[in-house]
Amino acid sequence: MTGPATTAVACLAVLAAGLASVRAQAEDLTVGLILPFSGAYASLGEYIENGFNLGLEHFGGDLEGHTISIVRADTETDPATGLALTRRLVLQDRVDVLVGVVSSAVLGGMRDFIHGSGVPLIVANAGNNDITGPRCSPNIIRLSFSIAMLSRPMGAWVHDQGVERVFVMAPDYAAGHQMVAGFRETFTAAGGEIVGEVYPPLAGTLDYAPFLAAASESGADAVYAFFGGSAAIAFVRQYHDFGLGGELPLYGPGFLASPAHAHVQGESIDGLIGALHYVPSIDTPENRRFQEGYQAAYGTLGSEYAVAGYDAAHLIVQALQSSDGDRDAFAAALRQGDFVGPRGPLEIDPATNNVIQNIYIFRTNVRVGAVAYEVLDVVERVQDPPNGCEM
Ligand code: PHB
Repeated sequence: MTGPATTAVACLAVLAAGLASVRAQAEDLTVGLILPFSGAYASLGEYIENGFNLGLEHFGGDLEGHTISIVRADTETDPATGLALTRRLVLQDRVDVLVGVVSSAVLGGMRDFIHGSGVPLIVANAGNNDITGPRCSPNIIRLSFSIAMLSRPMGAWVHDQGVERVFVMAPDYAAGHQMVAGFRETFTAAGGEIVGEVYPPLAGTLDYAPFLAAASESGADAVYAFFGGSAAIAFVRQYHDFGLGGELPLYGPGFLASPAHAHVQGESIDGLIGALHYVPSIDTPENRRFQEGYQAAYGTLGSEYAVAGYDAAHLIVQALQSSDGDRDAFAAALRQGDFVGPRGPLEIDPATNNVIQNIYIFRTNVRVGAVAYEVLDVVERVQDPPNGCEM
């Protein structure tokens, strides 16, 4: 293909009978990987892609004789770019299924086109609550997490630790505002008080000092913050350098200390408490297989982003195996995903197409040369209410 998107073909064995009629005339399944490969979330896109390729390797082995083709598209973190590339993948490249989307804002911008297109999208990161709430769609299946399922359990949990006054910070776009709203809802219901809030721009914020000064002067007992990718690295490092680490305990969705970048964050993430749908310390055969495979192939710890890509590949292979070559049956099978992955058991909620899964509350301990994720609590089988979703 021509233009900004690049194409890679992953040669993989794919079920002959199944695939031939998933796309009329075609023996291939074409997957559109729609991810940020540049900008603040570039490393997240890379982890999802790596995890997806590893998942094809681990689960695609018995689909003899055919290929899965992958077409890549770089959304950056820009909704207009995301929509333009989605249209191109569907109308020009004629992909059979889309996988990806990191930014909630990009997902919000794509939603109406996907809803009308008939092409399924497996969301492998973006947590935008509305997409499995009032703006849900039979074509959109979320395998990663919703913002609500990461933030709501944490509000109540933090208050239970004796924290009464919290300062909140998050990037100024859909995911940031939804993350704070979820935390606020359960933290204040438990009797806690939000004493201040700031929303720095996602793109272009290099200096967090004015926001950290506001937190320090707010009279808070703790900070709850959400940042991802390069923003998480910069924010947490500056939090530490500012001296807030000893003064104000830092809580947030676990992306703050993701294994995607913990190795470059070093001691700045020591003692941070996070909530996430995956931690690398989960001691199960499924997670050991994933981590061993990921580290052997890519030389770093697998992150929650890589797990989402890996599970998306698992889901696609399962759907191919069970759909007997029928396009509608393939899409229906994606909506019925139910398996045990590296993060534990997961299933797709038929009321919303959102994942149901465990949420892990963990503390990071930085030892010489390595970060340990110590699980403090597991909130089991977290399931969002439909929140206005009508399928
Ligand atoms: C989102 O926009 O939903 C988002 C982005 C980065 C993360 C997590 C969520 O690390």
